[in-house]
Amino acid sequence: MVDTRRPDPQDSMARPRNAQSSGPAPETIFTLSEEETFELGRNVAKTLTGGELLLLDGDLGLGKTVFARGVAAGLGVAPEDVTSPSFTLVQEYKGGRTPLFHIDLYRMSEDDPDELGTLGIEEILSSGGIAVIEWGDRLPRYHQRGAIRVVFYDLGEGSRRIEIIPSKGEPGEHRGDA
Ligand SMILES: Nc1ncnc2c1ncn2[C@@H]1O[C@H](COP(=O)(O)OP(=O)(O)O)[C@@H](O)[C@H]1O
Ligand SMILES: [Mg+2]
Repeated sequence: MVDTRRPDPQDSMARPRNAQSSGPAPETIFTLSEEETFELGRNVAKTLTGGELLLLDGDLGLGKTVFARGVAAGLGVAPEDVTSPSFTLVQEYKGGRTPLFHIDLYRMSEDDPDELGTLGIEEILSSGGIAVIEWGDRLPRYHQRGAIRVVFYDLGEGSRRIEIIPSKGEPGEHRGDA
């Protein structure tokens, strides 16, 4: 039997929550509805200053676009304008605190790297825009390094586990060469 009354000092759960570690810790959030995922996106947007790359990953229908609409709302862009940009690859939204670029790589053909070149991610970020990319794991590694990753898992019946993994590098590190 495991004694659950006494925390094991070796157990990471027993360490103080704000213990210093290398870089910000990943965060896990559970949402029970579309509204809660939207709200999460809105709150995350408040922490963004411009020049961030957000990569959203997880299966179809888990709430990546809902989250992106929340980010838009948090930046002051009308969220109802944000739809699944399945046919446009890159959609730009102005009128918010910083320009927002919503990109969906679902239909991007993996064997056509030229298509990626036309996304203009470097230009978006260096001009202070925020890029939110669905199916972000389809981006080449060098883009992924300095990015904030948001990963969606299905827990059934409208509930989702969402992991936010902060950028490990300095802002703009994704601009470094591969
Ligand atoms: N907890 C939840 N968070 C986000 N969406 C949810 C949740 N529960 C149910 N849904 C539904 O799942 C769908 C998510 O759609 P969407 O954001 O377009 O997915 P994706 O962009 O990941 O393919 C919506 O129809 C939404 O109403
Ligand atoms: Mg989508």
